[in-house]
Amino acid sequence: MEKEVYKIVFELENYHWWYVGYRELVEKYLKKEHRKLEIFDAGCGCGGMLTMLEKYGNAEGVDFSDIALNFAKSRGLKNVSKADLNFWKSEKKYDLIHCSDVLYHKNIENDVEILQKFFDSLQKDGLLILSLPAFAILSRQHDKAVFGVRRYRKNKMVKILENIGFRIEKASYRFPYVFLAILLVKCIEFFYRKKSDSVDIQHIPRWWNKIWLTLNRLENSSITLGIPVPFGSTLFIVARK
Ligand SMILES: C[S@@+](CC[C@H](N)C(=O)[O-])C[C@H]1O[C@@H](n2cnc3c(N)ncnc32)[C@H](O)[C@@H]1O
Repeated sequence: MEKEVYKIVFELENYHWWYVGYRELVEKYLKKEHRKLEIFDAGCGCGGMLTMLEKYGNAEGVDFSDIALNFAKSRGLKNVSKADLNFWKSEKKYDLIHCSDVLYHKNIENDVEILQKFFDSLQKDGLLILSLPAFAILSRQHDKAVFGVRRYRKNKMVKILENIGFRIEKASYRFPYVFLAILLVKCIEFFYRKKSDSVDIQHIPRWWNKIWLTLNRLENSSITLGIPVPFGSTLFIVARK
């Protein structure tokens, strides 16, 4: 990602519904573990998630971007280091590996191989939590700006993870309303032959953020209760070794 994109992500991670809602969803699963965890955040970016993960045990993160790591260190995070997941190999075994919005990146050479390495680096009964952009049809300028080259479908990813040996505890789409909004914008852009040249993540007014966060919290509850979300702009998976 460009430096300006990292900077805006770093700022938004503190309050924006997208990041706050996702951290709250992940926490719902971590709270069920009832033990101190050894945690690895693969592609930790600016460290917003890692700051939360530290509450649940010893958390460390890697990223291959110096810009991201500097932002993460500026949060006071000490356990962050530089590594390329394509060549990463861990001697250590973790209780939790978290990886959000990384496997779709153009610098990931083989996403399935990396998932296999996550499996190998988990303790027996260890958890993998994944968040991935969903549905290729939603691909747009934002994906290019954040170097995204893949979008995923639930059934295919579930099969890949089961073939590796994971048991799926949750596989759900998120943000159906974002899915519809992106499709609408794409249609408008198509008819007016105009392409947006910016990333989707922007500062937004407090009241607007509150509305979206409320909607996101409702969705988080329906996901944990097992109410199906048949489509969405993001795919969320919790899998156990
Ligand atoms: C969209 S950001 C997501 C960051 C963070 N996980 C989050 O959810 O906010 C994608 C991150 O993946 C990192 N990344 C991409 N390819 C990587 C690789 N091969 N090895 C390590 N990190 C990588 C990028 O540097 C970037 O920080």
